[in-house]
Amino acid sequence: MTKIYGEGDTQVRALQDVSFSVSKGEFLLVIGASGSGKSTLLNMIGLLDRPTNGNVIIDGINTSTLSDNQISSFRNRKLGFIFQSANLLSDLTVLENVTLPRQIMGNNGTAISDAKKLLTTVGLEPQMYKRANKISGGQAQRAAIARGLANSPSIVLADEPTGNLDSVTAETVVQLMKSMSRKLGQTFIVVTHDHRQFGDVDRVITTKDGRAFEGKESSKIEVTA
Ligand SMILES: Nc1ncnc2c1ncn2[C@@H]1O[C@H](COP(=O)(O)OP(=O)(O)OP(=O)(O)O)[C@@H](O)[C@H]1O
Ligand SMILES: [Mg+2]
Repeated sequence: MTKIYGEGDTQVRALQDVSFSVSKGEFLLVIGASGSGKSTLLNMIGLLDRPTNGNVIIDGINTSTLSDNQISSFRNRKLGFIFQSANLLSDLTVLENVTLPRQIMGNNGTAISDAKKLLTTVGLEPQMYKRANKISGGQAQRAAIARGLANSPSIVLADEPTGNLDSVTAETVVQLMKSMSRKLGQTFIVVTHDHRQFGDVDRVITTKDGRAFEGKESSKIEVTA
């Protein structure tokens, strides 16, 4: 996959010939310097934008063949998102925020009871009926994780999910994502500039100048005469 922004002199090759596949249940980190293409990669996989060349295939569906309308509904059904800021709707309760993705899908039979279960798992049972602007930053990010999981997505995509949190709160949020991944067999693709915070994960992809390769760059040791 290749993604080029702009045209002519202002053209930026944000991603160049990137190719990899992710297995179900994997917890994958994307690391790399600022401007190396991490968010672009996540935006392509998240179907928020289309690649210039190449395809994003999710659950066997080549998403290049979908219309914009089909992409939106596919995204609502198959993908969950966690951003740097929780972006909860402040006028709604925590529970209503987490129920929302399922209501958008039009599948709300068990939406409320499922959202309650998720909120209990992320430790927010006591905050469930509070308005979203009445909880702490760490609690909001835990609610955002529950919301990201609410539609049982094939993949949860997170761009710097701990970027706005102090290191202690970040640690709880990281552990929560990893345990949700194990518990639910949930695939996560997480962009971070601080991979040490995550400890051991299934897989690391490093982006560099728009290229992507397996593993941490720092783990490559060469000794020559
Ligand atoms: N919408 C856009 N229009 C034009 N250029 C863009 C756009 N989005 C990203 N770029 C460029 O593409 C390259 C990759 O950007 P990207 O945001 O993917 O980097 P990143 O690895 O997420 O960086 P950071 O760690 O700072 O968030 C950069 O050169 C950036 O300036
Ligand atoms: Mg980025």
